[in-house]
Amino acid sequence: MIDSKLLRNDFPMLTNGIKMQGKPLVWLDNASTTFKPLCVLEAVSKYYTHETSNSHRGDYDLCFNMDTKIMEARKTLASLLNAEPKEIVFTAGTTMSINQVAFGYAAKYLKEGDEILLTEAEHASNVLPWYKVCEMTGAVTRFIPLTKEGRLTAENLEKTISSKTKIIAVAQVTNVLGYVTPIKELAAIAHKHGAIIVVDGAQSVPHMKIDVKDLDCDFLSMSGHKMCGPTGVGVLYGKFDLLQKTDPFMTGGGMNAKFNMCGEASYLEAPVKFEAGTLNLEGIIGLDAAVKYIMNIGLDNINEHEKALKKYAVEQLEKTGNVTIYNADSEAGIVTFNIKDVFAQDAATFLNSKGIACRSGNHCAKILNDFLGTPATVRASFYFYTTKEDIDALVDAVKHGKEFLDAYF
Ligand code: ALA
Repeated sequence: MIDSKLLRNDFPMLTNGIKMQGKPLVWLDNASTTFKPLCVLEAVSKYYTHETSNSHRGDYDLCFNMDTKIMEARKTLASLLNAEPKEIVFTAGTTMSINQVAFGYAAKYLKEGDEILLTEAEHASNVLPWYKVCEMTGAVTRFIPLTKEGRLTAENLEKTISSKTKIIAVAQVTNVLGYVTPIKELAAIAHKHGAIIVVDGAQSVPHMKIDVKDLDCDFLSMSGHKMCGPTGVGVLYGKFDLLQKTDPFMTGGGMNAKFNMCGEASYLEAPVKFEAGTLNLEGIIGLDAAVKYIMNIGLDNINEHEKALKKYAVEQLEKTGNVTIYNADSEAGIVTFNIKDVFAQDAATFLNSKGIACRSGNHCAKILNDFLGTPATVRASFYFYTTKEDIDALVDAVKHGKEFLDAYF
C-alpha cells in the first residue's frame, strides 16, 4: 500500500504552494511528464556543485568518479528491467531510442516488401520513424486491428502477421487509452514468424514491473522524465546480440575504437557505440536516483495504487452524467474523456481555471482520432502521488463543465 500523501512531501512541486489561476495545483498530466523528488534534484545539483567532470575522457579522480556513476546507473536501469548492464543504452528518451532502432537496425536489414506492423493507437514517435524506414527501404507498414475497445490482442496479431513481417512495433501501454498490451504473447508470435518486437515502454516502465527476459522482447524504449527523472534522458534496452548487429545512427567521440585519414573507422561494442558525444551526465545521475526512489516504493505498489484511482475516477466521473469516457476498462491510470457538448480544449482550459492540469487534444496519437470518432479528448493521468482528493477536484469541475465559457470572466 502506498501512502501518497506522505510521498507528496518529497516533491517540491507539490509542497511549494504552486497555484494555477490562483487555485492550488492539481496535477493530472503524469502521462506527459512527472514531478521530481528531492533526491533527484539533490543528485543533479551535487553533480554541478561537487562532481562536475566529463566521463570516459580523463585520467583523474573526478572523471573516474563519473565513470563509476555511469556504470552504477547502467546497473540500476538493468535491475529495473531485469536486463544486463551491457544491454542498457543511454539516449535522450523514448523518441530517440525508437529512432535508434529504426535507423540503426530496420534501415539496415529491411528490404522492399518487408512489413512493419503497428497499431492505430501508437504515439507519433512509434509511427513516423517507421514511415521513414519504409521510404528508405521500400518496406511497408501495416496496422494490426484493435478490438472495438481499442485493445491489441494476440489473436489479432496472429491474423495480421505474415512471412513478410520483420518488425512489430507497439506500445506496452498506449498513451491515450492505457490498455496493457500482452507483450509476452506477441513476442512469442513474432519470433515464431522470424520477426522482432520493438516495445515502446514510455507509459509502462514508470507504472508496472517490467522483466525484459520474461517478456522476451527484442528492444524496449523508455523515458526518464515520465518516472520522476530529468528530461532529456532515457534508455534503449536491446538484446545484446541485436545491439551488436545494430548500427549507431549518431557517430562521434566516445563511441569509436579508431579512425584514420582513409575514411576507415571502427566502433566500440554496445552499448557505448550508441553513445556518441558527451553523455547527458546530470540526466543519467538524476535518472539513477529516480529509479532507485521508485524501486524503493515498489512498482507493484505503484500499479495497485493507480488501478484503485482509475476505478474511483471512472465511477465518480460516470456518476456526474456529464462525460463520455473512452477507456473505462483499460488497466492504466489514465482516464480519457470528453465533457458532454464541450470541445476538449475548451474543457481543459476550463479545468485550468480550477487549477487542474489535464492534457487535451490528440495526445500525439493522431491516427486514433478516427478510431475514437472524435477529433480531441481530455486525458487525466495519475501517478503514485495522485490522491483521491485530486480526482474529487476533477470530478467537481467536470460537474460544472457547461460553465466553461464563464471560466475567465
Ligand atoms: N508522450 C507524452 C504524452 O502522451 C508527451 O503526453
